[in-house]
Amino acid sequence: MAVAGCTAIMCVTALLALTQPWADDGPPTDAGELPALARAHGVDLGVAVAVEPLLWDGGYQDVVEGHYTSLTAENTMKWEHVQPERGVFEWSGPDTVVHFAESHGMDLRGHTLLWHNQQPSWLSEGVWTSAELREVLREHMEALMGRYQGRIGAWDVINEPFEDGGPFLRENLWYQVLGEDYIAEALWMAHEVDPEARLYINEFNIEGGGAKSDALYALASDLLDRGVPLHGIGFQSHFVHGQVPENLAETMTRFTDLGLEVTVTELDVRIAEPVSEEAIQEQREEFRHVVAACLDVSGCRGVTVWGVGDAHSWIPEWFPGYDAATPFDEDYEPKPALWGMVDALSREPSERSAGSRRRGTGRVPGGTRRRPVR
Ligand code: XIL
Repeated sequence: MAVAGCTAIMCVTALLALTQPWADDGPPTDAGELPALARAHGVDLGVAVAVEPLLWDGGYQDVVEGHYTSLTAENTMKWEHVQPERGVFEWSGPDTVVHFAESHGMDLRGHTLLWHNQQPSWLSEGVWTSAELREVLREHMEALMGRYQGRIGAWDVINEPFEDGGPFLRENLWYQVLGEDYIAEALWMAHEVDPEARLYINEFNIEGGGAKSDALYALASDLLDRGVPLHGIGFQSHFVHGQVPENLAETMTRFTDLGLEVTVTELDVRIAEPVSEEAIQEQREEFRHVVAACLDVSGCRGVTVWGVGDAHSWIPEWFPGYDAATPFDEDYEPKPALWGMVDALSREPSERSAGSRRRGTGRVPGGTRRRPVR
């Protein structure tokens, strides 16, 4: 394809001219244009990956490198994997993900630092003074964020801080020992460790608005008012087929209006069993809708899909009775959901999206006005 020397808009227009039949005639035989389309819009199209298949499964590797521009480690950067014993760090999994991304020119999202799940027992069952827990947190951040400093652009520093149904803060280990300001403390600490990284709060059940979303909005506003280095909100987006929020772009815009960036960090759309062909077809529009919502919001950095294919999705285990939540089937064949993402990205990039608009966003309004709490 002769695209050398063209501007981003010209390139994508040329690309679209060649691929225009997609919209009318269904899927192209090769969806390898997806990364180029995403980049032309200035967004990432990411996927969460597991270490073993990334190392050994050719079909898995082909899906990842052929369709996505960014990786998130589904589990291997979580605390229980990185620091299973105090002071004992396991780098083979995280290194595998980082090296795969870098050798394929992909971006990385870091997931995750403070969460109530997948903590090693020495951490979750320890009896800590606040000074000790701060020290433990600093050691962990310095080791993990420090190891990949300058290579992982954004980190989910705080994961799922609100109770499942909201709107109250979850009384996790960090809350119990450090108090509710643990969120600000952790963001300051992360900012010290990697001053260039964009720092996120990542949450679920906020995408369509409501009390939990409002509570997160109030928290984010307060943090920004205090000059805390919060740069983005992750919309996890674990949706149920038939219940994908119409107003996703509107909810995102509420947060970007605060000066934050947003990212769809963990998209899947689970279908109740028995999974019908009709539902699989309808899922195309749901994936299209989510990607289109991101393109509609100038501060949206991208969409990451949670799982390479249905055989590797967390859904059947965690939500018994549901399945088929990702854009590839159990044999790595593309599903209509994949073409839904192609549909969304096939529109012409706007003037704003085609450039480097997203690279410079995520600045904290007013800058940093307060010193870190130690
Ligand atoms: C999930 C993984 O996909 C599973 O493999 C693991 O057993 C549990 O965690 N929100 C998050 C993710 O932030 O880290 C979770 O990932 C899904 C919910």
